Amino acid sequence: MHPMLNIAVRAARRAGEIISRAAEHVDGLVVTSKSHNDFVSEVDRRAELEIIQIIHKAYPDHAILAEESGAQHNSSDIHQWIIDPLDGTTNFLHGFPQYAVSIALMVKGQLEQAVIYDPNSQDLYTASRGAGAQLNNRRIRVSRRSELPGTLIGTGFPFRQPELLEPYLDTFRAVAPKVADIRRAGSAALDLAYVAAGRLDGFWEFGLEPWDMAAGVLLIQEAGGVVTDFAGDQNFLTSGNIVGGNLKLHSALLNTIRPVLPKELQR
Ligand code: IPD
Ligand code: CA
Ligand code: CA
Repeated sequence: MHPMLNIAVRAARRAGEIISRAAEHVDGLVVTSKSHNDFVSEVDRRAELEIIQIIHKAYPDHAILAEESGAQHNSSDIHQWIIDPLDGTTNFLHGFPQYAVSIALMVKGQLEQAVIYDPNSQDLYTASRGAGAQLNNRRIRVSRRSELPGTLIGTGFPFRQPELLEPYLDTFRAVAPKVADIRRAGSAALDLAYVAAGRLDGFWEFGLEPWDMAAGVLLIQEAGGVVTDFAGDQNFLTSGNIVGGNLKLHSALLNTIRPVLPKELQR
């Protein structure tokens, strides 16, 4: 395993322990609201601190972009770690067991290492650029289905951006009749990991943040899949709009979603 991936795995497991211990008494947690429907608990912050400490102990000069503490630039911005300490906070706070730790490493602007860890199932998804994607150390591939009929597709609702609800529902109306079913499980990182593992055939969501997506994107790419924004380009980390799947399903999904979107969202 690449030494930097190894550090990421150690950090993700440590964060997972903090989250699992806290999951036994969620009712007593201090929760604050960052913005409309955007909650953060002391667990998010503690897990993030632990991850950053582990990374900085090994690589003191690496830069960090983490959900709760923002961007920390450093002497060398060649390496940047993109961290979501707890993706699926709303699920976590409700005891709904679908949330994960997501850690990615970008080197000179290219995703190189990825870990997503599900503390409930203890499933560990890993990827290194050029070396494939694994679930619990076993190679994973995106699904082999080639047409939308019969597929199980993941998505996310724009519950924090009410202005996106109508355009989102238009995409939902376009996709729903073409597929077997759609899941909204509440952790974009895990949704993307599921696409990499072939558990979901494809995925789309609006308005995500880089830390929701970075690790999952590399997992899908290394599992043989394709990820783009709604223009079919690679600017998803900036636009926050993402569609993924195997080559054929990605293009079928994109061709279903894009025509119903207003011009300003086709990015
Ligand atoms: C959220 C989850 C959710 C997605 C939201 C994200 P958080 O992350 O990934 O599935 O729909 O857009 O913000 O806030 O729980 O880390
Ligand atoms: Ca997140
Ligand atoms: Ca989070």
